Amino acid sequence: MTNEIEYKEAKILAHTIVQSITLDAIKKECPTVPEIKIEISREVTDNELTECLQLLNSNLGKTYESVNGKKWKTGKREEMLEEGLVYVLFRLLDSDKLLGFMSMKLINERSLQVLYLYEIQLDEHYRNMKLGSFLMKKLEVIVKSINKEGKLKKLWYKTYKDEYHDSNDSNLILTGVALTVFSVNKKARGLYNRLGYTLHRDSEIEKVLRNGKIIEPDYYMLEKVVN
Ligand SMILES: CC(C)(COP(=O)(O)OP(=O)(O)OC[C@H]1O[C@@H](n2cnc3c(N)ncnc32)[C@H](O)[C@@H]1OP(=O)(O)O)[C@@H](O)C(=O)NCCC(=O)NCCS
Repeated sequence: MTNEIEYKEAKILAHTIVQSITLDAIKKECPTVPEIKIEISREVTDNELTECLQLLNSNLGKTYESVNGKKWKTGKREEMLEEGLVYVLFRLLDSDKLLGFMSMKLINERSLQVLYLYEIQLDEHYRNMKLGSFLMKKLEVIVKSINKEGKLKKLWYKTYKDEYHDSNDSNLILTGVALTVFSVNKKARGLYNRLGYTLHRDSEIEKVLRNGKIIEPDYYMLEKVVN
């Protein structure tokens, strides 16, 4: 049953991504990004997964190791295969080299009905070209499109009938985008902050000791409410 819902959610999500994240828009908004191609996938192959994990490792491997231990890749690989995830892979047109990827999923938990961004990773040579900002803004467009289109609303009502008043219940929507970020990842936090992300109510928070010292948690959970 769960798999069937996640399968359908991923189908809705992938369809909306295709319409929102287009080469034309990237060319226009991020003119310094070289010629690329976009692959949107609901089932990544072993090779694709390995490529993504390699990029993740070169970008944040040290942080993952310090937070989750030396064997972090095993758990990460499992997470990356989670049902319902949709991948967007960006490759250089001429060499097929993976320039970056995103993975995301629609979530319906009691306190969380969001588009959850699992990963956004760009190769270091292709950062600071506004691609990250562009993609993050597109997530909000995707949320709005899914809410407007209505298929997810129907699916959620059919699946979780007892939790909503009727098929027009105003809670039958995605409230926005959510993500998790390492507290030490100041650059990404700066980007999210600039884009209006705030701490989610379920996030871990920093602790201020008696001597004024601030202890940050390993991760923060951030959200951007989309109306
Ligand atoms: C985080 C990441 C996706 C951002 O992508 P990006 O394409 O480099 O981001 P952008 O080019 O849109 O923005 C980055 C820079 O552009 C500038 N910029 C972009 N939009 C701006 C705006 N509206 N106003 C001012 N400055 C802006 C800033 O100088 C910013 O630099 P800063 O973050 O050092 O302040 C990318 O750096 C990355 O892949 N990092 C490694 C992996 C990672 O940390 N992922 C996040 C995991 S939660």
